[in-house]
Order: sequence, then C-alpha cells, then structure tokens
Amino acid sequence: MALKALTGAGRGITFVAHRNCCGARLRCLKKELHLTAHMTDLDRKRLFVKSYGCQMNAYDALRMADVLAPEGYDETAVMEEADLVILNTCHIRERASEKIFSELGKVREVKQERAKAGQAMVIAVAGCVAQAEGSEILRRQKAVDLVVGPQNYHRLPQLVEQARLRSGVVDTEFPADDKFDFLTAPAPAKIRSRGVTAFVTVQEGCDKFCTFCVVPYTRGAETSRSVAKILHEVEGLVDAGVREVTLLGQNVNAYHGAGETGGGWSLAQLIGRLARVPGLQRLRYMTSHPNDMGVDLIALHGECPALMPFLHLPVQSGSDRVLRAMNRKHTAADYLLTMERVRKARPDIAVSSDFIVGFPGETEAEFCQTLDLVKAVGFASVYAFKYSPRPGTGAASLTTQVSDAVMRERLARLQELAESQRQAWQGSFIGKTVEVLFERAGRMPGQMVGKTAHLLQVQADSLPDIAGTIRSVLVTAASTNSLHGTFAASHPSAHAMVHTPEVAA
Ligand code: 5AD
Ligand code: SF4
Repeated sequence: MALKALTGAGRGITFVAHRNCCGARLRCLKKELHLTAHMTDLDRKRLFVKSYGCQMNAYDALRMADVLAPEGYDETAVMEEADLVILNTCHIRERASEKIFSELGKVREVKQERAKAGQAMVIAVAGCVAQAEGSEILRRQKAVDLVVGPQNYHRLPQLVEQARLRSGVVDTEFPADDKFDFLTAPAPAKIRSRGVTAFVTVQEGCDKFCTFCVVPYTRGAETSRSVAKILHEVEGLVDAGVREVTLLGQNVNAYHGAGETGGGWSLAQLIGRLARVPGLQRLRYMTSHPNDMGVDLIALHGECPALMPFLHLPVQSGSDRVLRAMNRKHTAADYLLTMERVRKARPDIAVSSDFIVGFPGETEAEFCQTLDLVKAVGFASVYAFKYSPRPGTGAASLTTQVSDAVMRERLARLQELAESQRQAWQGSFIGKTVEVLFERAGRMPGQMVGKTAHLLQVQADSLPDIAGTIRSVLVTAASTNSLHGTFAASHPSAHAMVHTPEVAA
C-alpha cells in the first residue's frame, strides 16, 4: 500500500485519500435515488460516508453504500442531513488515526444539533481504526453508536438497526463467513454514476508482518477471492460502462484465488482471464510486494495489451540493514534486479514506490542509500513518509527512534529528489501522442479529463460525449500535476486547445 494525504469531497461519498498514485482519485459521486417498490419517500434515510486512507477503503465505502441502499439509505454529501454517518477510517500512521477523533468531535456537534430538531443520527466508525481500537473508540467518544471492522461491513444493515435502538454496538470479530458473499451488487445506474473506472478488491490482508506495519493486525491474514466471483463483479461493472478496473489487495501480487480450472490461480492468470472480458479496456493492480513479483506477472507486462504499464512496488528503504530490521526479506539489490526484469519485459513501464524515512536506527549513511536507490531506479512517483510507531508492531518498541527534526529533513531531501524525477518524467511526454481514457468533465467549461496508460492526468477541450472512450491526444504542455493536449484534427469533439491551470483530481 502507499498513501499520501489528499483531501477531496464528492457529492456522494467523501474520500480523504492518502494518495493519488496508480489511479487513486477522488471522484464525485452523483447522488442517486434508490426507490424500491416497497418503499415510499418517507421511508428513505440519508447516509453520509467519509472515507480515509487507501483505495481499498474507498472501495469498501462504496460497498457499504451498496449494502445499505436496499435498506432505504440514499447517499448524501451533506453530513447535517444524514440519519447515518459512517467514518471509514485508516490506522496506517498515527496522524491518520488521530484525525478520526478530531473529526468525531465535529460529528458529535452535528448529532447534537439534529437532536435539538428532533432528528436522530447514528454515528458509525468503520475501517482499520475501528478494528484496532474497538470499544476504546466508544470510551473516547461517547457520541459513537457503532464500531465495525473492515471484515464485518456486510452486516451493516443489522448492526445499524441495533445501534438505532441502543448505542455502543461493536463488531470487530474476524468472521468465518466471507463478506463478499453477502454484499449487494450496485444497480447499473449506480455504477454509471460512479464513472468509467472502478476498483475491485481481489485479495485482502497480509502475512508478511513488516515491523512498522499495522495491516496484518487490522486487515488480518491474506485471503484471495475466487476468480469466478471477481469475474462476475468485473463483468457487471463493464456491462454498466466501466472501462478500466484496478485490482486491489494489500499484497495483490500474492493473489492465489481458486481458479476456473481448479487450484490456486496467480495474479497473472487472473489478469489474463479478465483481459478477455469484452469491453474491458484497461487493467491495473496494486499494491505489490517485491518478493511476489513472479516471472509470469513480469512476463505479462510484455504480453497483455490491457495490462497498463504502471507498477506500484514499494521498497521502503535503500539500506539492507534497515530492510532487514523492517523484516522486508529482500535487499536493495533484489529490488533493482526485479526492476531490470520488469523493464526488460515492458521497457516503458512507469514505477512508483513507497519509502519510510527515519525508521528506528536509520543513520545518515543508510538514508543516503535510499537516495541512491531512488536515483538508480528513476521513479515516476514516490510516496515518502516519516516513520510513525504503531502500537503492537515490532518496531514500535525499538529504543533507537529517530528525532522528528531529522525525519523532517530527510523527508524533504527525498521528496525534492523524487519531485525532480517526476517532473522530468512527466515533461518527457510533451510533443508525444498518448492514449487517454476520458473519465469526466474538468473544472473549466468545455474541458474533459482523463488518464494515460501511465496514469498521468490529461486535460483537453472536448464535448462531454467522449467519457468512457480512449482517444489519441497530442501532449502540448505540462503543469505541476497534469498534461494538456489536443486531439487529432479529425476528432469531432476537437477544437482549439486552451491552456488552463491544472485541475485537482
Ligand atoms: N510509519 C510510516 N509509514 C508507514 N507506512 C506503513 N506503516 C508506516 C508507519 N508505521 C507506509 C509504508 C507503506 C505505506 C502504505 O505507508 O511506506 O508502504
Ligand atoms: Fe504492511 Fe509489509 Fe504487509 Fe505491506 S507487506 S501490508 S507494508 S506488513
């Protein structure tokens, strides 16, 4: 996983995402009515979901909305009008976790205001903070009615009903049943309202126990969904107009789900099968571990046109001593060798990575090895974080914690190097023609926004009818976070390009 702070609000579910690499984006979700035959408007209730953290949380938030829709919940972007507020939380670093408690203070005030007007509000805390803190959340914030872990949100309808009757409901057990078997598929109109790109979780949890990471504790052991179930979900998305799917997993390239031919299939086999779904044009996957980059997956990058040339492969550090202390079970040289193999299979592949600076005991010389690795690889983007001790993890009790001032200084140096690489890479597309999957209208009237195969955002002047189509665009300029381009003259929607300031994702 890799996470970088970004904030965005949609008109439906709100995402506060940690990063926008590998296609992560903050999307506006249209509010939509789910009028079912047996429900009148008076029965309808309003749901406000705010999601923090990684793409899997963003995916989970949509599935929570899906599971609650048949219960009469319509999404709203206005917390004040919500009967049910869900904060879908992230526990990866201390700041992410603490943010939740300050947000809960604000939600409590809204709940109190609604109570004065005679309107009830149920407050639920979901996601990884819920899993890690459980009933401690109720102790710290009395206004919370329900705490539900990431493996239990398929039970939300019953849990919310219980919480409406009595607050203090907690469900953080790792259940024996598979939540995916109980989740309601969204209606085609709902899928369309969410755009032409989608996430699909294929693998969850982690058995690797890196000594800085809470994920094995919050998301549990590695599990993979079966190929048949993933295929069914993907086909439903594509039928409704989705053109690009990003397969998600905390350790996605450790995927080993039951295949169509029996036995466990690798991620490469899964991608190969999904690439045959008619209408699905692009596939991506994230996040991978260097030790699980199998030969078949590497080879697929050179063989499968639907598999996009972008790889997010966190390395965390360039120092072998630090990598050992992190329990990464690979060296810097192993990582460089994997890079070499991947680039041999797909020479134009763009690579991004996560780094932690100031892991306990990290010396200046070890940090410089990280800079050396960044220089050697040449990343399209880098997500760098100051080490943050997480309760219960192996490194939290180490007595050699690096001071915040040193961490800040190292972070700035790493980010400066990474940014210069990113800008140079992005700028290298000027004058080239790229294939852009257009997704949505830009901020400026008459402008559409989409992504290249390498996950760069491109803006072009166009009529909205191109959403969901892939067009050739000549890149004419680059601004900080996006490219600007024009269509080939024959394109009916094309007209003169107007250079505009960059659009926030
Ligand atoms: N401190 C700092 N960064 C962390 N990450 C995970 N745990 C921590 C931590 N305790 C970073 C890693 C990971 C990304 C999702 O977040 O770089 O790849
Ligand atoms: Fe966390 Fe390491 Fe597992 Fe990634 S591989 S989720 S960093 S424990």
